[in-house]
Order: sequence, then structure tokens, then C-alpha cells
Amino acid sequence: MLIKPILFIALSATSFATVAQTPAPTKATGNDFINVFETLSGKQAGVRKGHAKGVCATGEFEPSEQALHYSNSPLLRSGKSQANIRFSMAGGNPNADERARTPRGIGVQFITEKGEVHNIAGLTTPVFPGKSPEVFLGLLNTLVPNEQGKVDFKKVAEYRKQNPSTLGQFNWLQAHNPPSSYAHTTYFGIHTFYMVNDEGKHTPFRWQLVPETAQKQLTDEQMTSLESSFLAKQLEQDLAQAPIHLQLQAVIGQAGDPVNDPSVQWPADREVIALGRLTLTASGKNQCDPTNFDPNLLAPGFAPSDDAVLKLRSSAYAISFGKRLTGQ
Ligand code: HEM
Repeated sequence: MLIKPILFIALSATSFATVAQTPAPTKATGNDFINVFETLSGKQAGVRKGHAKGVCATGEFEPSEQALHYSNSPLLRSGKSQANIRFSMAGGNPNADERARTPRGIGVQFITEKGEVHNIAGLTTPVFPGKSPEVFLGLLNTLVPNEQGKVDFKKVAEYRKQNPSTLGQFNWLQAHNPPSSYAHTTYFGIHTFYMVNDEGKHTPFRWQLVPETAQKQLTDEQMTSLESSFLAKQLEQDLAQAPIHLQLQAVIGQAGDPVNDPSVQWPADREVIALGRLTLTASGKNQCDPTNFDPNLLAPGFAPSDDAVLKLRSSAYAISFGKRLTGQ
């Protein structure tokens, strides 16, 4: 008769241990992310719930001919497109510290001569911290401060251990100092997309935007001595010297490369082809404020993969967009 209570206590202890480890949630919605962003950064009326701090830029895109047999997209076939650009700091804090070891982002909305629209939105890290929306949401949940206002970093580390797909981005950020200019760093699309040609052939690729000038990172000394906001001013100074050029490239996937997992990089030896050249000419105005850089809004000739993180982004961006345009 004693067995039952003992078993109960044993089971309780096991479930208590599981709760302490904060397992990844089994489901994640766009709203769940908006809620946790607002918990982590406070309600920030009228600004993006992710990548709250940023700066707009404008420019143009000149396609290359290298991808024409992979894709019949008007983006690659119809001459120059206009580019509406936004550089940003990850996270929902509109006063984010630009010396921090966090990702920077870029959103580009290409508008062709005929008005076709193609969006990209990527990060300075080649991978995302989670193989699924649920794993990423669980990571954000562990970063919510406790009642004493403290983040339990042991819990965060334990979660990372239990969910190794969160580690790639973390390790990358530890190994690379943050960029000293938005214009002198590479941005990665991270997800897999497809180029689609006239025959309907789908070629998997991951895009990257590579500056034509040298990559520049903050020194360890600058990471403490610089003021916490310098990137918008630096971009203006860079542009005062000369237009900024970035090469939009497609890394071509091979059979067996993971197409639905943004936490895993492809092997370094994959073929890279040019999609075109992005030229930035001006920055600092606010034309990108009312833009939603939803990465699933693609011109014909491109298609999204089934990556669940990519799919989820549309709903989170739409909620954030709706809120910020209505002053919430
Ligand atoms: C579940 C995963 C993700 C969620 C929930 C999420 C959520 C968000 C939200 C709510 C915004 C603000 C949108 C707006 O108000 O217009 C945003 C912006 C952004 N996100 Fe994500 N994101 C996710 C994954 C990613 C990934 C994988 C990347 C890079 C590949 C990325 C790059 C960006 C960038 C660059 C911006 C700023 C775009 C702009 O300047 O308007 N995000 N994200």
C-alpha cells in the first residue's frame, strides 16, 4: 500500500526536474512571439516588436545574368529595381546597445520597373538560434526575468544544452565581434528558398549580401569605449564618402543539404553565384517605417521552402506591423 505514495513522490520529483529544465513549448504562434518580445522589451508603442532600432536607406539593384537559367524572375530580368532598405539591431528594444554581441539585420524591398515586389530580411549571423519556432520561443521564454527582475542564466544555459540547435548562433556571436558599420558586414538569408525557371525546376539556395569593401568589426577596446549608438551616423559618414555596394549572392544547395532547418549551415564548398549588385545611395529618412519586410513576399521565379521558422515569420510580422501602425 505504501508503493503508490512513493511512486507519486518519485513522479512528482521527475516532473519538477522537467519543469526546471523548461522544455521547448509544443506549439508556437505569431502572437506568442509578440507577447514574449513585449515582455522582454516592455510595450514599445508604435515601433517594430522585433528589430525595433534601425535606420532606413535607399538605393537600387542591378541584376546579374548568372542566375537566369535557374529563375525566370522579373527581379533578374527587368533591368534595375528600386531598393527600400532598413538596417537594424535584433530585439525589441528601440534603444539597443550597438556594441552588444547580438545580430544586426537588413531588410530589402526590391521594386521592379513594373512594380513587382520582392522582400529579403536577413541577419549578420549565418544561422538562427533554433531549428523550429518552438525551440526559439522556448529560448526567449527562458530569458524572461523572474519576480526579482533577474534572468536565470543557469536556466538559459541548461535550455541551450537541452536544445543544441540554439548553440550555433550563440557560438558564432562569441567568435565574431560586432560590425563597426552596417555597410561593412555580410548578411545571411539563413533560410532556404528556391529559384524557379520556365520548366518549373526548383533549385534550392540561400542568399547572402556581401560588401564589396572590407568587412570591419569593432575591436575589443571599441566594444567598451564607443558610445552605445553609432551605426546610423557611421552609415551616413560611409555614404558621404561613396555609394555602398553589396553583392547579392545565391549559395546553391546540393542533394542532402538541409532545406528546412535554419540552425544548420551548409558545407562551405557550395557553389556561389551572383544574383546582382545592391547599391546604397542615401540613408536616414523614414520611408521604410511603413514597410513590412515579410520574407515570404517573393517575386515570381522564387519560392519559399517549408522551413517552419520562415513560415511563422509572416504572422509575427503582420501582427507587429498592425500594432505599430496603430500606435500600439
Ligand atoms: C520565429 C522566428 C521569428 C520571429 C517570431 C520574428 C519576429 C520579428 C518581428 C515581429 C519583426 C518586426 C516586423 C515589423 O514590425 O515589421 C521582425 C523583424 C525582423 N526580423 Fe524577424 N523574426 C523571426 C525570425 C527571423 C529570422 C530567421 C531572420 C533572419 C533570417 C529575421 C530577421 C529580421 C529582420 C532583419 C527584421 C527587421 C526588418 C525591418 O527592418 O523591418 N527574423 N522579426
